[in-house]
Amino acid sequence: MPRHKVLLLHGPNLNLLGERETGIYGKDTIEHINAEIQAAAQAMGIDCEIRQSNHEGTLIDLLHGARGEFDGVVINAGALTHYSIALRDAIAAIRIPTVEVHMSNVQAREEFRHKSVIAPVCAGAIVGFGKYSYILALQGLKDLF
Ligand code: DQA
Repeated sequence: MPRHKVLLLHGPNLNLLGERETGIYGKDTIEHINAEIQAAAQAMGIDCEIRQSNHEGTLIDLLHGARGEFDGVVINAGALTHYSIALRDAIAAIRIPTVEVHMSNVQAREEFRHKSVIAPVCAGAIVGFGKYSYILALQGLKDLF
C-alpha cells in the first residue's frame, strides 16, 4: 500500500507548549509531542510533516502548498479557530480532508472558544484529549484516504 502523506499544523502560541498554561495544556513541550506524533504516524504507515506558525498568513500559505502534496491535513488552529474566516476559506479551497484538533476541551471552557468557524469545512474534530488529540486525528484521517 502506498504511504499516505499528512500535513500537521500547529497554530499560534502552540510553540510554547510545556510552559504555557500547563494546567490546561500539560507539561510536554512541542518537540516531545511532535516526536510522539511522528512515532504514531510511522506505526500507521503515514508520512507526517509537522509545522508550527504564529501567523495566519503563513498557515494559509502552508495549506495552499499542501495541494497535490498531501492526502490529509490535521490542524490545531489555536485561537484562529474561533474567528479566522480566511483560514476557513483556505481549508475549503484546498479540498483535502482536514481534521480540526484541540488539546483542551474547548466546549468546557470560555464561551468564545465554543464557536469554531473552521468546523463546517473540516471532515471532523478531535477535542479534549491533550497530545492524543493529534494521534486520534491521524487515525480518523486514515479512514478517509
Ligand atoms: C486550543 C484551544 C484554543 O481555544 C486556544 O486558543 C489554543 C489552543 C487547544 O488546543 O485546546 O491556542 O486550540
